[in-house]
This record gives sequence, C-alpha cells and structure tokens, in this order.
Amino acid sequence: MGKLRVGIAGLGTVGGGLLKLFADPRSRLNEKLELVAVSARDRSRDRGVDIGGYRWFDDPVELAAQRDIDVVVELIGGSDGPAKRAVETALQRGAHVVSANKALVAVHGLALAETSEASGGKLLFEAAVGGGVPMVKALKESVAGCRASAVAGILNGTCNYILTEMEASGRSFESVLADAQRLGYAEADPTMDVGGFDAAHKLTILSAIAFGTLPDFEHVRIEGVERVSLTDIRMAGKLGFRIKLVAKGALNDGAVEMHVRPALLAFDHPLASIGGSLNALVVDAEPAGQLTFIGRGAGAGPTASSVASDLIDLAEERAGHAFGRPLAQLSSAPRATPAERGRYYLRLMVADRPGVVAAISDRLAHEGISIESFLQMPAPEGPVVPIVLTTQTCARTAVEAAVSAMQALDVVVEAPYVMPVEVSGAHWGAA
Ligand code: HSE
Repeated sequence: MGKLRVGIAGLGTVGGGLLKLFADPRSRLNEKLELVAVSARDRSRDRGVDIGGYRWFDDPVELAAQRDIDVVVELIGGSDGPAKRAVETALQRGAHVVSANKALVAVHGLALAETSEASGGKLLFEAAVGGGVPMVKALKESVAGCRASAVAGILNGTCNYILTEMEASGRSFESVLADAQRLGYAEADPTMDVGGFDAAHKLTILSAIAFGTLPDFEHVRIEGVERVSLTDIRMAGKLGFRIKLVAKGALNDGAVEMHVRPALLAFDHPLASIGGSLNALVVDAEPAGQLTFIGRGAGAGPTASSVASDLIDLAEERAGHAFGRPLAQLSSAPRATPAERGRYYLRLMVADRPGVVAAISDRLAHEGISIESFLQMPAPEGPVVPIVLTTQTCARTAVEAAVSAMQALDVVVEAPYVMPVEVSGAHWGAA
C-alpha cells in the first residue's frame, strides 16, 4: 500500500504545530503518510514552515472533497459551519477524518459516527480531548476490558492556567486570561473556556467512550469559572483547599451524571496538584482500579502530537470505532439527578457590622447545616468584607434554602457564591 495522502483543513495553533511535525525529519509521520494539501483562511500568514509545496484550497470543503486525499485533518474548530461540512464531505466519500474539534464531536459525533460506519471512513479525535494526553485511546483501548464507573478530570488548560496563576501571582483573572490566549491555550472565543463549555464538550466525549453510552452534550450541567475570585482562591487556600474546574461523569445504577463546575479540592486530592495548562483524568474502572493520566492539555505541540498519533494509527490500519465500539452497542443511558448531599463552600460579601456572623449562622442552623470551617478576613478598602465557610455534609436543598434566606438579609450585599467540596473516592461525588 502506498502512503496515505493527507490534507489539513485549518492552520491555526494546532495546524501550525502539525505542519512542523510533518517538516521534522525525526517524526515518523512521513514514513507512511504524505501531506499533500492545506486549507486556511489566510494563505500568506507566516507559520514558520514553507507551505508552498502543498496544494492550496481557500475552501476546506473543497479540500475534503478531493478524491485523491485519503485523510482529512480537521483543525478548524466550531461545532457547525465549515468544520462540520468538511468532515461530513470527507466521511461521506469514505475518506478518513482526524479531528481536534471537541465541540463538533460532542454535539454531532453520533451523526458523524453513523456516516463513518456507513462509508467505512474512520473518524478519530484523540486531539479533541486532553491535548497531548492519550485520554481517548486510554478509554477506548486500555480500559476496554473494564467497567468504568467514573471519569473525573481537569480538561481545560486555559481555566487551569488561570486558576493556578491567580493563586501563584495574585494577578487578576483578565490579565492571566490574556497570557493564556498569547500562549495558544485559549479557544478563539475564550468564553468557551471560562464558561466551562470546552470542558463539557470533552467530558461528553470521554463519558460516552468510558460508559459505552451515546454522546449527550445537552445532559452536562455546566458552570464556568467566571465567579471565582482571588478572594475565593486565597481563602479556600487558608482552609486547606485548592479551587479547580472539575469535569466529572459518573455511572450509577445504569444512569449517567455529568457536570463541569468549579469545586474545592483538599490539597491531597489527586487533581489538586495539577497546575498550569496541565490536564488530568482519573478513571475508576474495575478490575483495573483507579488510573490517572496527566500531561499538557493545550497548545500546538501537545495537540499536534495527538493528531499525529491518530494519523499513524490510520497508516498502520489499527484505527477502531469512533466511540470505541460499534454504534449499535452504545446505550441510551438515563440521566441521573445530581448528588443530594455534599459539603459546600459559601462566600458571602457582607457589611462589616456587629451581629452579621450570628445572622448567617442562624440561617444555616435553621436548615440544620453544621459549619465545618469559617473565615473572615479584614478588607482594607471598605465597609464590605468577605466571609467564607465550609459546611459539613448536608442536603443540597438545605444549602439552597439557607443561601436564599441569607440573600434576603440587608447586610449581605451580593448573591452568595456556592461551590461544592469535591472528594476523591469510589463515586467521586461531593463528600
Ligand atoms: N482551549 C482548550 C484548553 C485547548 O484551554 O484546554 C485544548 O483543547
């Protein structure tokens, strides 16, 4: 068999990284594959690699339609538009597709996998999740013989970088986000990152593969990091916790629960030490036990390396099913309700007056909630001070009731911010 002929649609951060890999004589890519065509919005942009030897297409869909291109690498991004049309076009004619597009796979993965099964064109997307960390392959291949009960991870490098840098340097959210954009971690629209949507796309993909269920993005409960403040990071730290954007899927009694949300992790939690743009995934799977995967979750080099590994799988004819098994074997699992009980962190901004703490603890006591830790710090710049506390294990509905009672107090000057305390353990639920 001759070399597989590859076309790349999209030459942004990851596409640029892949061009460099094709140009690197130490890379195995050129042994069995040949890059023949590229498509991007701007032909003249300097990508540090000469693209003059490749056929150029202004339109990625036209590239995808070329019958002499065996593999279309889709690095355009976005769940719809040209990325989707290019992938559909390639799969419909039986070409293979390698994509780094988590939004596309999370939202339209089922329909695309149907097209792939019908035409025989493979659909691979290792680079869509976890940058350079082989999370998709690990779930599809390494734990294929296990029953996975939970996947929990840090799946967004931008948020993790922001939270880590805020803690380390005391800089503002906005200034650290600008760094993440400069370093090539952030999505073209960074609200996809900070709003939790990017992590939710990735969690959708991982949960489907881990649990053998149909991808169900609409089912993920999503909360971003926009409300996490420097005050939260510092005060949680004094209480022994680090704040992380946690993406978690769990299979309980045949029902699937998926959420992305900022949470407090005790310093000894397996995900608490994952810093900067690193991603991590912890998988609970029997009989293997708990497995942890860690590595660089964003950026040109790590993500391009995952694209390259899919390309080599295609060239060596070991590419399997898009979601790890034939679509007919994926089940439509019922949606589980969120955990009823847990430990919670509350941050209140209050007027600095006598009796405020008593009023707050009264509202908690009224709902039968016991305080585990409590912290008030002086606020030099004004009459409003932050108070934070963590609760002992209690009913979620009790916390909701207490928070709305607190909100009615005239000394509470803004809506209390609530985050769960996440624990390590069999079900990865709140404590
Ligand atoms: N914007 C993504 C992140 C890039 O920050 O993790 C990798 O998918």
